[in-house]
Parts: sequence; structure tokens; C-alpha cells
Amino acid sequence: MAGKIITIAQQKGGSGKTTLAANLALAFAASGKPTAILDTDPQGSLGRWFMSRAERMGDNGPGLGFRTASAWGARYEARELLKTHDYVVIDTPPKMGVDGRPAIEAADLVIIPVTPSPIDIWATEPTIEMALTERKPVLLVMNRASSRARLTGEMREVMGKLGGEIANTMIASRIIFAEAMSHGHGVLEKQPSGLAAAEIRALSAEIAGLLD
Ligand SMILES: Nc1ncnc2c1ncn2[C@@H]1O[C@H](COP(=O)(O)OP(=O)(O)OP(=O)(O)O)[C@@H](O)[C@H]1O
Ligand SMILES: [Mg+2]
Repeated sequence: MAGKIITIAQQKGGSGKTTLAANLALAFAASGKPTAILDTDPQGSLGRWFMSRAERMGDNGPGLGFRTASAWGARYEARELLKTHDYVVIDTPPKMGVDGRPAIEAADLVIIPVTPSPIDIWATEPTIEMALTERKPVLLVMNRASSRARLTGEMREVMGKLGGEIANTMIASRIIFAEAMSHGHGVLEKQPSGLAAAEIRALSAEIAGLLD
């Protein structure tokens, strides 16, 4: 298959971009697809995650590449990584504004994590607009979804009006997502038979299906 670039973007801070980037990249790698993460967030949290991972695992982990880029260098670096990887997952900073355009331009799919609250949903609009202007497919992923079906249903309805597709898979709010990130883990490794791992597997399969 031709390699694919997945950009995870959302203006709102703390919506789960970095958590999804790490866990999805690990899921792709675990399915036997060489995968790289490209961190364009100057906060560098994925870099710290990856370094503690590399120290702990040495060469024993699943093949996972890692690089950083400035916002404007994202497109070039992502394409470089595609020469040696099937998937490149780009993490982006909050409030990226027009600086984030290269990461969107590079993408085969733009994933927008949305916490089911009106504030997050409103904050999604500029990212969706930028992606649709660039004619990029958009997948909205409900992250930290509540188990209260009525709230989730209402939020789906509001999100449906934004444009872009809504992922069938929802990621619930689970402590394991935060726990796994320390020491450079993903939920697939930390608790392979857990619910969080099942959600990540389902989401990565859904994304792979959309990109094929
Ligand atoms: N599904 C989840 N369940 C529980 N906690 C979560 C979940 N997703 C993310 N978190 C936690 O929420 C916080 C913010 O997540 P994360 O850093 O991934 O968001 P972000 O969008 O990358 O933030 P920023 O905009 O600052 O880069 C972290 O503490 C993370 O562990
Ligand atoms: Mg982040």
C-alpha cells in the first residue's frame, strides 16, 4: 500500500491529541505496519514519552519511528518518513492557527479528538474549516466520552452539524490512558485485554479501513 499520513489536530488544549497519537501509532505498529510519529508540538511531550520508551525497551519494542518538526516543516518531514514507514502520525499543538497548515496539507486523513462538551465542539470549527478548505477527509473522534448515553447522543447530534465524519468508535474516559503514558507505554501494552485497548484497536481498524 502507499503510505498514509494521519494528522491529529484540535485547537482546544487537552482534548487528547497526544494520547491518541501515541496509542494509534502503537496500534498500527503492532499490526505489523512500520509507523512513525512526527511531533510538531514544541511542548515536546511525545518526545519525552518516546525517550522513556526507548530507554526501557531498547530495540525490543515494536518498530516505531519518531521525529520532531517545526510547524512549517511538518509536510516535508512527514513525506520523508513515508519513504520508510506505512503510517506517519502527526501530533500538533493546541491553538496552532494558520501555522498548522503544512500538517493539514500533508494529511491523508485529519483526526479531530473532541471531548463531548460544547466548548470543545465549538473549538473544533476552525480545524474542520482548514481541513475542508484543503479538501482533506475529517474524522471526528469522541474522546473521554461519558457512559451517559443521552449526553453522548446529544453531542453526536451537535457534532454531526459541523461537517466531517464521526467515528463509530468512541474512546471513553479511563485512567489507564493517563497511566500508560508515563514510562512510555500505550494501553495495548499496559492492559492488552482491557476495554481501553479494545477501543484503540477498534479505532485503528476503522481508520485503516477509511484509508484503504
Ligand atoms: N480517554 C481518556 N481518558 C482519560 N484521560 C485521558 C483520555 N484522553 C486523554 N486523557 C488525559 O487528558 C490529558 C490531556 O490529554 P493529551 O495531552 O493527550 O491532550 P492534547 O490534546 O494533546 O493536549 P495539548 O493540547 O496540551 O497538546 C492528559 O492528562 C491525558 O492523560
Ligand atoms: Mg498534546
